Amino acid sequence: MRLIAANWKMNPQTMEEARRLASQMEHGSMHESHKVEIALCVPFVFLTALKHTVHHVKLGAQNMSEHEKGPHTGEISALQLKHLGIKYVIVGHSERRALGEDDEFISNKLKMAHAHKLHPILCVGYGTTQKTMFTAEKKLLTKQLQAALKGVNFERGGLTIAYEPAWTISRGLGTAKPVAAERSASVIEFIKDKYPEARVIYGASVTGENVDTLSRFRVIEGALVGGASLDAIQFLKIIKSFAKE
Ligand code: PGA
Repeated sequence: MRLIAANWKMNPQTMEEARRLASQMEHGSMHESHKVEIALCVPFVFLTALKHTVHHVKLGAQNMSEHEKGPHTGEISALQLKHLGIKYVIVGHSERRALGEDDEFISNKLKMAHAHKLHPILCVGYGTTQKTMFTAEKKLLTKQLQAALKGVNFERGGLTIAYEPAWTISRGLGTAKPVAAERSASVIEFIKDKYPEARVIYGASVTGENVDTLSRFRVIEGALVGGASLDAIQFLKIIKSFAKE
């Protein structure tokens, strides 16, 4: 099944707003919920409260520790997420790689997610630039994927890979960049050939306006949505587009 995942990043600023957004998304996607999977990857502080707001929409975290437990100030463990009933976790987002997370670190997180049966959304594409040629990009993606997935054996349906060309990521709704849908579909096909067991989705500047250009490619198995996931109308449009194709 295709997956449409919201990455709220460090938004919104109040619980009230988080509840309002989540509830709009839950109610607005009733008819699509049996056709696509929907996940909201929200800040940790909202996870507990939103469990009572959403039902068919699933919740995800945006990060987790590579350690099991112990003296790791400010970190959240896979087990804590698991015990909360959280299904998804984003691993290796470019904004975290930019803070210094390397491939080995990301691989350890994947192993931890796997051990505790969380479903990771592994982001790759960091380091690509507008000028990166197709062969160079394939090389970089291969390296990122091999390093992250070394020694991790996911069963079918247990892993989502999000191809996120870093230079296309927006800084929030209203700053979406042009999306090269056809090129992205080819890159996703390339990843899918290497990892047929994984679901491969696209992320970076997906909006209600450009989503149809992406969803028409069956090989694109969903989207990871940043800025536009903070606007219920836009996010619901994205869900509907992937559900209808
Ligand atoms: P964007 O973010 O949709 O705002 O470009 C995507 C992401 O960073 O996951």
